[in-house]
Amino acid sequence: MARNPIDVLSKYTALYGDTFRFYLGGMKEALVTRDPAVIQHVLKTNAENYQKSHIQVKRMGHFLGKGLLTTHGEAWRTQRRLIQKGFDRRQLEALGSIMQDSLQESLREFDRQVRLGPVDVYPHLMKMTFAMVARSLFGAHLKDEDIRLVSDTISTVQEFIVRQTIEPYLNPWFAVSGQLRRHEQMRMRADGVLSGYIRQRRGQPPGHDLLQTLMDARYSDGQGMSDGMLLSESMQLLVAGHETSSNSLSWLLYLLSTRPDCLERVRQEIDSVLGSAPLGYAQVAELEYSTQVIQEGLRLYPPFWMVDRVAMEEDHVGDVVIPRGSMVIVYVYGAHRADRYWPDPESFDPERFNRENVKLHAPFTHIPFGGGPRSCIGANYAIFQMLMILSVLLRRYDLHLEPGQKIAERAMVILRPRQGIRMSFPAAGGRCGADSY
Ligand code: HEM
Repeated sequence: MARNPIDVLSKYTALYGDTFRFYLGGMKEALVTRDPAVIQHVLKTNAENYQKSHIQVKRMGHFLGKGLLTTHGEAWRTQRRLIQKGFDRRQLEALGSIMQDSLQESLREFDRQVRLGPVDVYPHLMKMTFAMVARSLFGAHLKDEDIRLVSDTISTVQEFIVRQTIEPYLNPWFAVSGQLRRHEQMRMRADGVLSGYIRQRRGQPPGHDLLQTLMDARYSDGQGMSDGMLLSESMQLLVAGHETSSNSLSWLLYLLSTRPDCLERVRQEIDSVLGSAPLGYAQVAELEYSTQVIQEGLRLYPPFWMVDRVAMEEDHVGDVVIPRGSMVIVYVYGAHRADRYWPDPESFDPERFNRENVKLHAPFTHIPFGGGPRSCIGANYAIFQMLMILSVLLRRYDLHLEPGQKIAERAMVILRPRQGIRMSFPAAGGRCGADSY
């Protein structure tokens, strides 16, 4: 299970059906489900009864403080309402130029690297997307070295949290060996850097970034967020936006490299909608086919391959009983590949998301951004960001998958390519073909 949870859960789904009970580590009871009716009930209809699990609230809270990812109830609702404004249409339009400038800066290094030969796409896309998210939050002048420090801190601390969770018997050892402290110090260094930007901003004219939206937000008593709150909310947005878009994009480039027909259609659409202009949020709705490709990529490779909750009280959905304290694992990857809802589910077919077909999807069968009140606050931003990067890369490059690779998934917190995805990026040329994933 720890090495390959997707294989295990998919095997059990085939054996026991869409919803089954499972004992994590042989001890902790969990209900695993890919049934859209159960998923809708847990994430939306009775969402109040289901809180985020221990790993998200306690272990992440230890490092990240209180914020959107790590709170419940009224405190979460208030923050969500305030932060939502940072992702509305007007704000996304305003963020476009910061995102484009950040992308142009990242492309200089990317262009240099791909000229030298094939690359593993993930680390490059990770640098691109994280720099964009970080600058969308803290403004265009955020320094490269600070972005690197915060990104390294997030990766290292996240890995440590995963180890604390899957090897809990090592926690006393982590404390006495100084590992816990070392990770805390890392986080404090990153906090120090970001706090500097927050303090600086207090004395400056307003910017167009997300930090400004957070600073301008007011609680019902007219007060704004404290510097500590701004820090923990910004850090949580950085964590949530850290690996997600870059993983999706890695899988997308892989899928497109094996489907020249789709790649060509995306390119043509980008040409006809944008010409040589940069993508602004206003044009996102016009990139219909490219968005279908992204939605289909997210179906096959959802970065959050599962979403977990804990039942506060006993609950029932149809004939499924969910005992109090039981963990519920919404098996997103399984739901996205259920043949009851997705004919020929392993194949890459962006037509599933065309205007007509999308109306036929049952609710909660396609949930890459989760669902219900705690669904992804950054979903529109993420789609905008992915379209922006795709449009720039496809204008410049063709995509060639290096031959002889075994492309496989590794499901940790996020669904990643197990051994990377090596590709070369010539200016234009021939392509290969395959359509099952
Ligand atoms: C392809 C990219 C992304 C995917 C697939 C994704 C997916 C998700 C999912 C599935 C959840 C719900 C988790 C749950 O219910 O436990 C979530 C929550 C969240 N996401 Fe995203 N996300 C993406 C990008 C982003 C970005 C770029 C940001 C911020 C800049 C972001 C910020 C958040 C936040 C703050 C939450 C927690 C919301 C809350 O609890 O109220 N995400 N995301």
